[in-house]
Amino acid sequence: MSAAGAREVERDPQHIEAMFSRIARRYDLMNLLMTAGLDRHWRRCAAAAAALPPGERVLDVCCGTGDLALELARRYPFSHVTGLDFSDAMLVRARAKAAHAEIRSPVDFVAGDLLALPFADDSFAAVTVAYGVRNVPDLPRAFAEMARVTHPGGRVVCLEITTPPGGFGRRFHGLWFDRAVPALGRLVAGDGSAYTYLPASVRSFPPAEELAVLMRRAGLRAVRFRRFGMGIIALHVAEVG
Ligand SMILES: C[S@@+](CC[C@H](N)C(=O)[O-])C[C@H]1O[C@@H](n2cnc3c(N)ncnc32)[C@H](O)[C@@H]1O
Repeated sequence: MSAAGAREVERDPQHIEAMFSRIARRYDLMNLLMTAGLDRHWRRCAAAAAALPPGERVLDVCCGTGDLALELARRYPFSHVTGLDFSDAMLVRARAKAAHAEIRSPVDFVAGDLLALPFADDSFAAVTVAYGVRNVPDLPRAFAEMARVTHPGGRVVCLEITTPPGGFGRRFHGLWFDRAVPALGRLVAGDGSAYTYLPASVRSFPPAEELAVLMRRAGLRAVRFRRFGMGIIALHVAEVG
């Protein structure tokens, strides 16, 4: 199947929702094993990039088991954090974690679709997404929705796996994601197909420079990005209005 074909089939929302619900139970453990725990550091960088003013509201879309939403709550006490995801199995885990987290900001987790956010325009001072936009069938709409619900002057922050531009990072990326990760997925999550989808979804996702262009076209401004982890992760930050 071509990359374009794979994109159409595998980014079907029902298929994606079912896949993430299936792997929800082992999702955190797989992240830990795949990144040697670095995923937490990358989420901390994403939370810092949101630059949330005191007392403001922040939305984390595609929140999964809630790690970035909880990191936002830790970093910005007395703010209000909302996590959104369309997988109930993920949300159950996020709520359970929030119940035991030492945080001083209220966090609520709601069911919803990134492509049709259930919030009024200008509802949040920042919107974040970690490892989420790679899975949606309509990227321009995803960023337009994130921009719509953000105040003018607020931020949109996007952390995502990306293809390194070249060199050792690119070779490592190929070996790790194409070979090791699907094997780990079969062994640990009992789901090789979800972890074969992962490298396929990264391959058919725009490289960091193109993603920045796409974000600008969706109405975001001052878009910039930095790479982490030998270039396999990109953090894009943009302003609204
Ligand atoms: C790879 S996980 C990322 C979870 C979390 N942000 C993290 O940092 O680990 C992707 C999440 O996005 C959710 N998702 C994918 N497409 C979505 C959509 N259109 N609307 C809402 N959630 C979506 C999935 O259910 C899944 O929980």
